[in-house]
Amino acid sequence: MSKKRILVTGGTGYIGSHTVIELQQAGYEVIIIDNLSNSNIEVLDGIEAVTGTRPAFVKGDVTDVEVLRKLFETYPDIKGIINFAASKAVGESVEKPLLYYRNNLVSLLNLLELMPQYKVKGIVFSSSCTVYGEPDINPVTESTPFKTATSPYGNTKQISEEIITDTIKSGAPFKSVILRYFNPVGAHPSACVGELPNGVPQNLIPFLTQTAIGVRKQLSVFGDDYPTPDGSCIRDFIDVVDLARAHVMAVARIVDDKMDEPVEIFNLGTGRGVSVLELLHTFVNATGVDVPYVITERRAGDIIQVWANPEKANKVLGWKAEVPLEETMRNAWRWQLKLREKGIM
Ligand code: WQD
Repeated sequence: MSKKRILVTGGTGYIGSHTVIELQQAGYEVIIIDNLSNSNIEVLDGIEAVTGTRPAFVKGDVTDVEVLRKLFETYPDIKGIINFAASKAVGESVEKPLLYYRNNLVSLLNLLELMPQYKVKGIVFSSSCTVYGEPDINPVTESTPFKTATSPYGNTKQISEEIITDTIKSGAPFKSVILRYFNPVGAHPSACVGELPNGVPQNLIPFLTQTAIGVRKQLSVFGDDYPTPDGSCIRDFIDVVDLARAHVMAVARIVDDKMDEPVEIFNLGTGRGVSVLELLHTFVNATGVDVPYVITERRAGDIIQVWANPEKANKVLGWKAEVPLEETMRNAWRWQLKLREKGIM
């Protein structure tokens, strides 16, 4: 029987590349489209090194409907789509809102408009816990109400979810699984793929590992005067491979017609809140590598604390975060060492 074809937009990115590996290992045929604006073509070598199969790759922009149409003509019978392609830097979105609204929304609109024509059964959408803003109560469930977005990036996630649900409610002939990620961290245990942000990392772990290896002088911990046990912010740090595996389960629900509702929404988190300082100490204890840090002013826009209630994903999706945080930290460090070995950083 021929393999089921899945289109992964943004598939050379951080979460996309780890998901492509898990999809291939689960027996799917993967096609990637990516404009390489925040990743590089060598990621395909890393994927192939792990799975032995180089995914089909189309260099292109999902905001260009003609590029997408040509892709669907070139690769007929795509059963499902996983949509990672989006800009995702909170700070940058405040400076360049139109870039974020155009890139993140037009790409989604293009996919939704073309899916019926090419009989694609459904789309897995990459959303984020940022839709909850600063929740009144933690842990958050999928029915925790949205708060007004605190950045254009977060707003594009809220609007995208509404575009998908309104379109399906109107009778569109496809389904959707919306995955709300908490804080993805770590790297593949093979160290063949990992997080490789362009420029100065905005996210905690890449900045932390670059400090540990000496690329950065010290880590700034953005505030330790929050109303939390140790004063630093609390997040739900989820291993990127655990996260990737959830996407395989989500796309299977679509292509194997297992969904209970036309739109299903899941929080993807461990269910455990960990503070920035706790994470820092976990890294040091797990790797034996010191990380010089200073406490600085709070970062504008940061929320104090958010972590998931992942029961729905555990019960309905049949998914649970499994990688211990210490192992995630060791994998992040192994990836940073590999980048040094390859002369990349
Ligand atoms: C985590 C914590 C910082 C850097 C955002 C988006 C989310 C997702 C992940 C895309 C915060 C602290 C950070 C540093 C620090 N985006 N920190 N020093 O802001 O929780 O989530 O990125 O998928 O949708 O909202 O992630 O890693 O930037 O910060 O102290 O150098 O680490 O203050 O408390 P964040 P983050």
